Amino acid sequence: MRQLVLKRGKYFFSFIFLVLFFPSCDKVNESPIPDVYVSLTVNLVIANELNVPGNSVLFPGYGFGGVIISCEAPGSWYAFDASCTYEASRSCIVENDGVLADCPCCGSQFVLLGGAYPTNSPATMPLKQYNVSLLNNSTLRIYN
Ligand code: FES
Repeated sequence: MRQLVLKRGKYFFSFIFLVLFFPSCDKVNESPIPDVYVSLTVNLVIANELNVPGNSVLFPGYGFGGVIISCEAPGSWYAFDASCTYEASRSCIVENDGVLADCPCCGSQFVLLGGAYPTNSPATMPLKQYNVSLLNNSTLRIYN
């Protein structure tokens, strides 16, 4: 009987622990870049450099600090907000060059593929990512 009470107590405290700490995980991973409505279509015939793997193009005026689209492979693209996650301000916009983007403010570098994680400090958070879908063979849609 005593063992049963102890076991229940253990589960109860484990449950309390999970309830208390799990929400904080989301907060930890939240991007410092403010949410701004994004809906952008790109004609790949006009922006045909985006059909070449390894290329990237900045589209200013979208998102918080502009939107960078990078081509990983034929038919595969990523889209990120160009605002550096260290300052998270519109005055620190990363400069894309191929699949790399350097922050002019204090030198962080990001890889514009996968999660756009920084390759060096001081930034620790990845660039804010946006959704990409291919509407037809020649139009990309970037949205959140
Ligand atoms: S603001 Fe980007 S590294 Fe400092």
